Amino acid sequence: MSQQPTDEPTSEPCCTAVEHDLTREEIETDVGRLAAMGAETRYEILRLLDGAPEPVCACDLTPHLDVDQSTTSRALKRLSEAGLVDRRKDGRWRYYSVTDRAKRLLDALDSEREFARADTSPAAGDKRGAVRDRYGAIASGSAGSPEAEDGCCGSSSGSSSCCGDSSGETFETRLGYDPARVEAAPEGANLGLGCGNPLSIADLSPGETLLDLGSGGGFDCFLAAQELGPTGRVIGVDMTPEMVERARRNAERSPHDTVEFRLGEIESLPVSDASVDVITSNCVVNLSTSKSRVFEEAFRVLKPGGRLAISDIVLTERGQAELDDADLDQYASCLSGAVTIERLQSLIEGAGFESVSVRPKAESDAIVREMYGEEGLTDLVHSAHISGYKPDR
Ligand SMILES: C[S@@+](CC[C@H](N)C(=O)[O-])C[C@H]1O[C@@H](n2cnc3c(N)ncnc32)[C@H](O)[C@@H]1O
Repeated sequence: MSQQPTDEPTSEPCCTAVEHDLTREEIETDVGRLAAMGAETRYEILRLLDGAPEPVCACDLTPHLDVDQSTTSRALKRLSEAGLVDRRKDGRWRYYSVTDRAKRLLDALDSEREFARADTSPAAGDKRGAVRDRYGAIASGSAGSPEAEDGCCGSSSGSSSCCGDSSGETFETRLGYDPARVEAAPEGANLGLGCGNPLSIADLSPGETLLDLGSGGGFDCFLAAQELGPTGRVIGVDMTPEMVERARRNAERSPHDTVEFRLGEIESLPVSDASVDVITSNCVVNLSTSKSRVFEEAFRVLKPGGRLAISDIVLTERGQAELDDADLDQYASCLSGAVTIERLQSLIEGAGFESVSVRPKAESDAIVREMYGEEGLTDLVHSAHISGYKPDR
């Protein structure tokens, strides 16, 4: 007689023993937090608070929710009891903000959603894999950084352009970065992977919230934090876990507690709607397999009137004809994934941006030569400044 499959325990072990390392108390706490998050109103409140630059009064939350004021108050009480929101009293009003614990839970959900939404075609998967492998190795210090033998964003035959020359000038000072600010960034943040200086066109004001797409070791984030001051906020997003780990270690050594790094893809940003004043990015959008999604997401998370300040590689017509998008090394080296100026302009405008400008930098040839250490590439690609505005209405 054949044996029926069973889930019941038997005296004979049927498979490897499975276990977790949580205590009963930890399980109860986790379940309590998930239950506190697990209702639409409470979850929406967390999202609204997470996207707000400062603590929010309960009365300002209710108009965004499909409930009355007493339901909002009850939901806030439950979230506060679960340690997911902080409460501060000021006169007759109470102001609420999300706790770090809640932020981490929301980040985990964002990462999960981002992977579910991502383009899953085999070709896109190969490209993303090649990009993650390349920048994961650089973040771990095994390739491509000034600490290793390779050059910058460019090809494996690239020069070590991030390092200084005999005049004491570096790639960064030639790009217009302020030497004092570069010096003040945590050691290890500058991996020499950029192709321009997006902060030079970002026109930052103290107190603004900045989002950096593909933040790498966090170089531009730490420099921006110096300009934005203690009331500003900087969020770096990167899809390579080793990069995010490295950037977070750098943040621990930074005097600025306004900088945070989130793991995620720029095609599905782990960032709330209309919560950001300015988006920067340095040599990253060319690596995306879905550039239209990147700009749609950028549009979603920017506040009305918010702006783009991006440095990136664009293709010349010759580059478009000669570079091979299926060559994974060229792709991950910020070459063949790039698009022409006209294409980029139309993608950005297609997402809803106005006053879009995509223009090669005056010093583009020198930058490209220095990045890749190859003379011939200046006819194929340019380093460009890219800007645009989300309409203020
Ligand atoms: C050339 S490096 C630039 C890093 C940084 N912006 C800098 O200037 O040092 C590209 C970075 O973008 C990240 N990246 C590439 N494609 C991405 C995507 N689709 N979503 C999020 N991060 C991405 C990589 O992991 C890598 O850290």
